[in-house]
Amino acid sequence: MEIYLDNAATSHKKPKEVIEKVMEYLKETSCNPGRSAYPLAVKAGRLLFDIREKLASFFGVDEPTRLVFTRNATEAINLFLRGFLSPGSKVLTTSMEHNAVMRTLSALSEERNVRFEKIWGDGRGVLEPAQFREALRKEKYDLVVVNHMSNVSGTLAPLEEICSLCADMGVPVLVDVAQSAGTVLVKMPSEGDVAFAFTGHKSLMAIQGVGGLIFNNDSLGKRVKPLITGGTGSLSSKEVQPDFLPDKLESGTLPMPAIVALGAAIDFINSTGLGKMENHKRRLTRSLIKGLSEIEKVTLYGTKDERQVGVVSFTLKGMTTSEAGDKLSSAGVYCRVGLHCAPSAHRTLGTYPDGTIRFSVGYFNTEEDVRLAVDEVRKIAEKR
Ligand SMILES: Cc1ncc(COP(=O)(O)O)c(C=O)c1O
Repeated sequence: MEIYLDNAATSHKKPKEVIEKVMEYLKETSCNPGRSAYPLAVKAGRLLFDIREKLASFFGVDEPTRLVFTRNATEAINLFLRGFLSPGSKVLTTSMEHNAVMRTLSALSEERNVRFEKIWGDGRGVLEPAQFREALRKEKYDLVVVNHMSNVSGTLAPLEEICSLCADMGVPVLVDVAQSAGTVLVKMPSEGDVAFAFTGHKSLMAIQGVGGLIFNNDSLGKRVKPLITGGTGSLSSKEVQPDFLPDKLESGTLPMPAIVALGAAIDFINSTGLGKMENHKRRLTRSLIKGLSEIEKVTLYGTKDERQVGVVSFTLKGMTTSEAGDKLSSAGVYCRVGLHCAPSAHRTLGTYPDGTIRFSVGYFNTEEDVRLAVDEVRKIAEKR
């Protein structure tokens, strides 16, 4: 038996359409876009443009040049934070952030005296708009950074309300949509200054190697300095970095096979229907919560309602999470245990330092997977 419940780490399996498109690209195109004018290079350039347009539109942005490709969400978050924050900048963030955000802010606090404060979620990982309102009224911040969907508890943050509050107060927002993009509808607000950092290999179902940053207006993008400089294929006579998007923030050869996979993955999501995929994951999440809650030794974390999608974290009484992870793995149930790169989120839920056992479902999981995984947890709990 092999049941994969680690989709919050990376989605598995990938749609066959994604794999086929990558193979086709490698066999038939596999060329550097934007560098030359021979037909294959032009074909690659057109492909890149089309995918950028498709992805921008997926996030509700009608200007494709506002989308910048990176290797993953971590690089996108670093690009934004390092390129936007100045010495002494003040940042408001939350206790539900991944280390992609927290380690970067901590490094910037050492390097540039960037100061940051956290809004704490409640014991279920819930963040209330009123907490943001109060914090923003009390103090002037240069940036708000918020995780849209917790990789620990699956809790969704009230993104629309937070972005609207920040727009009213004139504070830019960076949203980490690494987990939510491809899980729920993630639409870019038109008001204020907002950037989304995404990754291709999780719920968006592409392969590893691509992520990105997308802005809701040009002026926010213009305020971000590059993390790296170099060749862009544009303005080659100049030895200074171009100042226009996306070239300004996209130096070096792009990971075209992963970008092609992401284009095919967006096609797959659009033709399947994001709503249908979300409903499937919501049903599986509910089944997991129901099944696990019937096991006496299980403690579940999260809201256990419609604010929790895709991720179910729990602990087993009398057993460390790593011990449980080993037993589940031997039984063929693959999941992640421990702190999931988000120590503050565990302090919020009260599960620090041992962390939780995390089951995270993907579109290709079934009710049967859930039933078998819950059975294995029951067996492990009863053997104690
Ligand atoms: C909420 C969140 N943010 C950021 C990341 C980093 O994503 P990547 O590893 O693709 O850079 C993850 C990965 O687990 C995540 O869950």
